[in-house]
Amino acid sequence: MDSVAPIGVFDSGIGGLTVLRALMACLPGEDFIYLGDTARVPYGTKSANTVIRYSLNNLDFLQRKGVKMVVVACNTASAYALPTLQEISPVPVVGVVEPGAREAIRRRGTKTVGVIGTRGTIKSRAYERAMHALAPEVVTMGWPCPLFVPLAEEGMVEGEIPRAVTLHYLQGLARAEPRVDTLLLACTHYPLLYDLLDHVANSIFAAPVTTVDSASAVANEVSLTLEETHAACERSDGGRVDYFVTDLTRFEEIGERFLGQPISGVTQVDIG
Ligand code: DGL
Repeated sequence: MDSVAPIGVFDSGIGGLTVLRALMACLPGEDFIYLGDTARVPYGTKSANTVIRYSLNNLDFLQRKGVKMVVVACNTASAYALPTLQEISPVPVVGVVEPGAREAIRRRGTKTVGVIGTRGTIKSRAYERAMHALAPEVVTMGWPCPLFVPLAEEGMVEGEIPRAVTLHYLQGLARAEPRVDTLLLACTHYPLLYDLLDHVANSIFAAPVTTVDSASAVANEVSLTLEETHAACERSDGGRVDYFVTDLTRFEEIGERFLGQPISGVTQVDIG
């Protein structure tokens, strides 16, 4: 495999920039191609077949760009499409579900994990399966929280309204039996609400809760896969990112908050 080739990262839109952020921090010498399917976002409300079809388009676009690996940054796309993508792709495809599941059960004493994500991610039960394969004794409870996506995109990550929405969603999970001790953020957007979610969960859950964001676990998995396939770039810094979107709407402006740094040079492409 060509070690100087870029790593392809795709997401339904902007949210995958939280994963790209962790990848850039972990692998500063690598080049990345980021594809945000902003024309067809959200994926979280769509059916499995539609998400698989969109994901295949995204994979095809990245392959044409000559990437050495593909990271499916979107939880919904990972949950629904990863096996299909892995089956047909000539390069390794890494999703976010398994690294996230592993991160959630890594802590000693994890007994019950509350998984929060889009309706699609929760409906797919992909996290339950991943967690069960890794640690059958751990109980997993899926809880859809769709309003967190627009809140994060609008920059509403603290204050009265996001707090009310958080209470609305987490109250049900707080009452669930057995008691949740770990809250896994299974959506690209939720790390922006990390402080609020962690604070509310620890105020209303009966016992202390550990809130887990999986982005750095995904980056570690990518790094490991690069080593195993002898595809790691030898540079230790200076990597670049090329951004592609299927619709330009506010990507640079909103994306900056997700990536933690300014974004420029975004190209609009037609992939469908
Ligand atoms: N990227 C999606 C995910 O992580 C959230 C946004 C959407 O629904 O497309 O599931």
